[in-house]
Amino acid sequence: MSEADAILVDLQAAEVAATGALGAAASLEDLRVAQGEVLGRRSPLARINARLGALDAEQRRRVGAEVNAARQRLEARAASRRDELEAAGRASRLEADRLDLTEAALLGPRAWVAGLPDRGRLHLVTQTRDELEDIFVGMGFGVAEGPEAETDWYNFEALNMPPAHPARSMWDTLYLDLGEPESVVLRTHTSPVQIRLMESQPPPLYAVAPGRVYRKETPDARHLAVFHQLEGLVVDEGIGFADLAGTIEVFTGAFFGQGVHSRLRPSYFPFTEPSAELDVTCPVCAGSGCRTCSQAGWIELGGAGMVDPNVFSAVGLDPERWTGFAFGFGIDRLAMIRVGLGDVRALTDNDLRFLHQF
Ligand code: PHE
Repeated sequence: MSEADAILVDLQAAEVAATGALGAAASLEDLRVAQGEVLGRRSPLARINARLGALDAEQRRRVGAEVNAARQRLEARAASRRDELEAAGRASRLEADRLDLTEAALLGPRAWVAGLPDRGRLHLVTQTRDELEDIFVGMGFGVAEGPEAETDWYNFEALNMPPAHPARSMWDTLYLDLGEPESVVLRTHTSPVQIRLMESQPPPLYAVAPGRVYRKETPDARHLAVFHQLEGLVVDEGIGFADLAGTIEVFTGAFFGQGVHSRLRPSYFPFTEPSAELDVTCPVCAGSGCRTCSQAGWIELGGAGMVDPNVFSAVGLDPERWTGFAFGFGIDRLAMIRVGLGDVRALTDNDLRFLHQF
């Protein structure tokens, strides 16, 4: 066999072995090493190339072209193997990063307790507000909302509290730095929604208005500076105090269950006459007296009363014709009583161990 033929035989064997080595590389690092071994300066291919010098010019051209073609095929194989390995790497990274959201949803609300992944849920106060809305909608009330930044007119004046009226000090007001001094407030109660309702639609009106309210208050176990109220307003002909008492009693039974009752104690609010403080049987001790109710057997929920004639006049309704009642109570307070919570601040601490219980 001529030296030229011997080189071609060796070339073919070297190419088969080299192709196998490149294809067997299992990682990009393997491939880099294999490429060095089959195409580098100490590779069989390089040794074959060195043997070309012993051939005559014509044979060197012919065999040299074969060696170059083999080198190009091996380089192409190395490049395609790199593409394969990179694609496989991307696929396995994607697989590792995948979030299976369906599984968390299947685990249910108590999963977090068992250390399993969990889905989110509504905050206890939101759950309570939704339930209150359901109860009042079931009694034929609509649901209304009003802005949290209110003008002095809606928060105080239209509610029968002219400027400098001493009753304004019942609420520790946060004023906004907008317009005239003390002309815009963060609403101190949801009662301004009463005014907006009466201004925007003619009676008869049966509506509740839940929402956030603000007071300049240092938070403690029973008070928050930002909390929630639910306002109720009824305006119709021939409405009496018994309608107010009956509505509150039906609501109390629906929210707390039978055995919890309501009572109204004489009180004062500028926008209702007569006015009452609204209490419910302490649901913790069923009225026999305990720590939650300070041994009273009753828990104070909020205020209520018959809409004052001056309020009707402020919104242009004839106080000789229209009658109505209003009430307002704390939603956070209701949630607290029902779950037996000792410190209302737990509702805003955002401690997941607390929030996950509801
Ligand atoms: N707005 C009163 C408060 O926040 C509660 C109330 C509402 C009283 C409606 C009477 C009628 O203290």
